[in-house]
Amino acid sequence: MKLWGGRFRKETDTLVDDFNESISIDGCMYQEDIRGSKAHARMLGDCGIISKEDSEKIIVGLEEIRQDVEAGKIEFTKENEDVHMNIESILTQRIGDAGKRLHTARSRNDQCAVDTRLFIRREIGEVIEETLEFLQVLKDLAAQHQKTVMPGYTHLQRAQPISFAQHLLAYAAMFQRDVTRLEECRERMNYSPLGSCALAGTTYPIDRWQTAKELEFKAPCSNTMDGVSDRDYLIELLSDLSIEIMHLSRFSEEVILWTSSEFKFVELDDGYSTGSSIMPQKKNSDVAELIRGKTGRVYGDLMAMLTVMKGIPLAYNKDMQEDKEPVIDALTTVKMCLPVFAGMLRTMKPLPENMRRAANEGFINATDCADYLTKRGVPFRDAYKTVGNLVHYCLEIGKTLEELSLEELKQIHPLFGEDVYEALDITNCMELRSSYGGPAVSETSRQISELERFLAERGW
Ligand code: ARG
Repeated sequence: MKLWGGRFRKETDTLVDDFNESISIDGCMYQEDIRGSKAHARMLGDCGIISKEDSEKIIVGLEEIRQDVEAGKIEFTKENEDVHMNIESILTQRIGDAGKRLHTARSRNDQCAVDTRLFIRREIGEVIEETLEFLQVLKDLAAQHQKTVMPGYTHLQRAQPISFAQHLLAYAAMFQRDVTRLEECRERMNYSPLGSCALAGTTYPIDRWQTAKELEFKAPCSNTMDGVSDRDYLIELLSDLSIEIMHLSRFSEEVILWTSSEFKFVELDDGYSTGSSIMPQKKNSDVAELIRGKTGRVYGDLMAMLTVMKGIPLAYNKDMQEDKEPVIDALTTVKMCLPVFAGMLRTMKPLPENMRRAANEGFINATDCADYLTKRGVPFRDAYKTVGNLVHYCLEIGKTLEELSLEELKQIHPLFGEDVYEALDITNCMELRSSYGGPAVSETSRQISELERFLAERGW
């Protein structure tokens, strides 16, 4: 019979058992369920709501169940619907009446809310750690490539010279924001719903602060109805994960471009690429493509969760059982993508000569050429137009700006002098961009030290 079977005269249809269960999803939260129940039992004993002996028996019984689950000795059943009822009924089978007292001044509604928060809090920590490890890889790679010149793009057209380090550090900035977003999400969600009971608290003299403290929450949720029905933190986490995988996806897109023969800026390690079953020459960046593809799944999880919540009246409704699957899916996905991307980055071989060649080709020093004239008194707009004509001329005769003779340059503008060639040198063009945040070595060094501090503050 069900734990709640008293008011029923018929067994649940097996179709309904299959449909209604959540154990296949929330079974992974057994540690959290047991931890929450232990805190609850201790509080019930301390507050004199159940006897100390019963409280102690429950705590010992729960600990034994935890060990048995870990040892694979326990099989959860669908008839018991979820992790909460599975564990409670095993406890009662084992310790009798004391087990039946555990659910005093509690409901599955606050129980499932507290389990989920404990679970998510730990999971957020794991995503943060993986992201920090990822940042560490970015930092090491950036440190090696501060002088590696490459073209920076806008509209996927070569635009201005940057360094490979500057490009990588732009991603580092994104992933640092991902870390702080996750940290803030964890801060905001770290309140205990336990003791909200079904929705309206209880007439028992419970101590919600005690359970909150034991479970390392900042405080109890302030309103019991909000306590059992708030899933904002799941939506917030899914948004954070969506943004993070969007960053991974953009980065993937670049790796895919960079590995193409058209770019050839990097070569992936054999261990991080795959071949074709028909074309013997192929080496594909499947890892990056799959991460780009998995982004859709995480966005879908966010949409699912937003949609589940949009029409639910207060307080708990069964719709909310649909909350865990998308969140776990998104967490599993991001936690799989981060280390594999990190490994791909760590093992890939950048090809600086090819980056340099591409940087020499696209007139990416045209702005510098205009700046040269501007610094000699020509208004920027006029200088801009002059260099535009110069580029047009170069395209006609198949030369780069720096390949023009001084006579050719002077014909277009008399203020061009011998020192223009220095101003047009691609390395100089990159290195002279030393304004705050720019690609010059002095500025990428600053960014790298800031990243180092960010990592050190978090124990890396
Ligand atoms: N299995 C449920 C869930 O995951 C637990 C809460 C059930 N509460 C209830 N009154 N049916 O949401």
